[in-house]
Amino acid sequence: MRIAVFSTRNYDREFLSAANSRLGHELVFFEPRLTAETARLAAGIPAVCAFVNDELGRGTLEILAAGGTTLIALRSAGFNNVDLAAAAELGLRVVRVPAYSPHAVAEHTVALILALNRKIHRAYQRVRDGNFSLDGLLGFDLNGRAVGVIGTGIIGTTVAGILSGFGMCVLASDPFPNERVREFGALYVELPELFAGSDIITLHCPLVADTAHLVDRAAIGQMRRGAMLVNTSRGGLVDSKAVIAGLKSGRIGALGLDVYEEETELFSHDLSGQIIQDDVFSRLLTFPNVIITAHQGYFTADALEQISTATLLNVADFEAGRPLVNEIRFESGVDHGGGRRAA
Ligand code: NAI
Repeated sequence: MRIAVFSTRNYDREFLSAANSRLGHELVFFEPRLTAETARLAAGIPAVCAFVNDELGRGTLEILAAGGTTLIALRSAGFNNVDLAAAAELGLRVVRVPAYSPHAVAEHTVALILALNRKIHRAYQRVRDGNFSLDGLLGFDLNGRAVGVIGTGIIGTTVAGILSGFGMCVLASDPFPNERVREFGALYVELPELFAGSDIITLHCPLVADTAHLVDRAAIGQMRRGAMLVNTSRGGLVDSKAVIAGLKSGRIGALGLDVYEEETELFSHDLSGQIIQDDVFSRLLTFPNVIITAHQGYFTADALEQISTATLLNVADFEAGRPLVNEIRFESGVDHGGGRRAA
């Protein structure tokens, strides 16, 4: 099937082309993000492959449907950027990759925790500058401390497993508690108890109406003084201005972000020669106890192979008229399929 692939970078071409050598789709690569302005590029192409910062609002979907597109194949797990109601009305089916290497995101989360705690980002610069002083680099043992994991799906569970291996006590919050997490000795608690009892809080729930700004001024007020906050899930879970206030007051002792609520205009572009216009983001960058990465949690060779294969298999199922196991249907906004595990 012809597939218009948006937001293509070199690595997307490489991994999708390799996976496609076994499947024989016709891939048409476009570098721009998918928006209402760029959607016409897909005219006449039945399948559109989109990524996390593509905008699949009603306007974009109407143009795609008018151009003959019938399938949206997301090469991501999250689908908060798709207007599912509009897609259903327009007869567009939407598939995603529900599970690919949860280790990629989980390990990146742990990398942020370890780097923030032991100030690796500062130590690296210091030593290169010939400054071997340890002042200001004091960390704490993870062993025996408490981590609060919000969202214990596939990634949150993997994070809980790794950190329980470090000897951390795990507090968890999820409307659907997970037995595997309990096996790590985790305790499911209400959010206020999690905020109050955790030395480190890490977010792994999806961004939906209920979870938008889940970490706001009130939540930060419930945290232990000096708590570390890590978000590798979706930027909109965190109220960035409230977090800046929390960092300034010392309530938040360290912040690790792989996602940011206004990341679309920033991440995956080289803006190194330009003036960043987002003052909230620029302020976050000034704190010595903040590490921000540009949505690279998923970015391992293993994950890219799995995402590419699963995306193209989703399209092959659609083309062959087989059931779409990874379809996201509008009724409840969650996927109703068994969720084919990627390769
Ligand atoms: P998942 O669907 O397996 O797990 C999400 C869990 O969050 C579920 O158990 C669900 O019950 C829970 N949840 C829903 N509402 C909640 C609430 N109000 N409070 C607490 N828990 C709640 O998803 P998965 O694969 O574990 O991914 C988690 C998130 O990670 C995704 O939604 C996506 O936004 C993000 N992600 C980030 C990547 C990156 O590169 N940084 C890559 C892949 C995913």
